Amino acid sequence: MTIAVTGATGHLGRLVVASLKTRVPADIIVALVRSPAKAADLGVEVREADYDRPETLDRALAGVDTLLLISASEIGKRARQHRNVIRAAKQAGVKWIVYTSLLHADRSPLNLASEHLATERELAESGLPHTLLRNGWYTENYTGSIGGALAGGAFIGSASDGRISSAARADFAEAAATVMTSKGHIGRTYELAGDTAWTLRDLAAEISRQTGSTIPYRDMPEAEYAKALEGFGLPAPLAQAIASWDTGASQGALFDDSRQLSRLIGRPTTPLSASVTEALQAQHA
Ligand SMILES: NC(=O)c1ccc[n+]([C@@H]2O[C@H](COP(=O)([O-])OP(=O)(O)OC[C@H]3O[C@@H](n4cnc5c(N)ncnc54)[C@H](OP(=O)(O)O)[C@@H]3O)[C@@H](O)[C@H]2O)c1
Repeated sequence: MTIAVTGATGHLGRLVVASLKTRVPADIIVALVRSPAKAADLGVEVREADYDRPETLDRALAGVDTLLLISASEIGKRARQHRNVIRAAKQAGVKWIVYTSLLHADRSPLNLASEHLATERELAESGLPHTLLRNGWYTENYTGSIGGALAGGAFIGSASDGRISSAARADFAEAAATVMTSKGHIGRTYELAGDTAWTLRDLAAEISRQTGSTIPYRDMPEAEYAKALEGFGLPAPLAQAIASWDTGASQGALFDDSRQLSRLIGRPTTPLSASVTEALQAQHA
């Protein structure tokens, strides 16, 4: 029995490998990575697997039974990259693929949905047994901006009063590790999100409470927010994409109250307050 994880040097992949190591012997875990030099500290077998180089995928997937395909990070290239992995997995005789998709991928207004849906279709057409983990937003997507909010005196965005059911990356990682090491998940689709939804106004209030500074939430039109992000040095296409995701959030794209994530991991998801505390501590470390 061999369990492999793609993107194992990424933020989520590292947490999945760590969680898997608490559940199964380390010698049945294989980290599939683009840059083996970055993976020396993972403490499991490492194989080179570059989504853009199918020959590496054929070698890397030999003998793998269960594969976690963590979605790739370059928007626009991902459907093709994921197809490369799925085809190589089929060729190699992989028995089960678990894929990290997007919350409500089949009805999400986010521009990210189309590549995830294409991959979900590719998996269905492959005939390979598979499980879809439709992940909601990581709380870290927002807590990463706390330093900027403190420096600028306000938390800015264009999500209005949109409710966001985020969870910590570690929660999503634990769900992936749980699914891969337990039975009854083949053919299932999970909508994974945090237990308690919050708005950017709630986040600003929590930052204010924990820091003792008054940090209001300043809502702005999508185009203005994109310009502000560009002003912080983000490339224009990324700034526009992030602002559009906030607009999606204002329309409920990041909301889910099904609590499937906490049921899978057997505990409540990490509260917003804990993620804010962690981000503030990291700033002072
Ligand atoms: N739910 C959310 O809120 C959210 C937010 C951001 C992203 N995501 C999605 O979830 C995925 C995991 O999140 P994350 O935080 O772990 O992202 P991350 O830290 O950027 O990790 C992405 C991983 O993909 C690997 N990768 C990229 N291109 C590759 C290629 N051509 N071949 C093989 N590996 C490749 C990277 O390898 P290197 O280590 O070599 O760079 C890295 O390990 C992301 O890739 C993205 O699809 C979700």
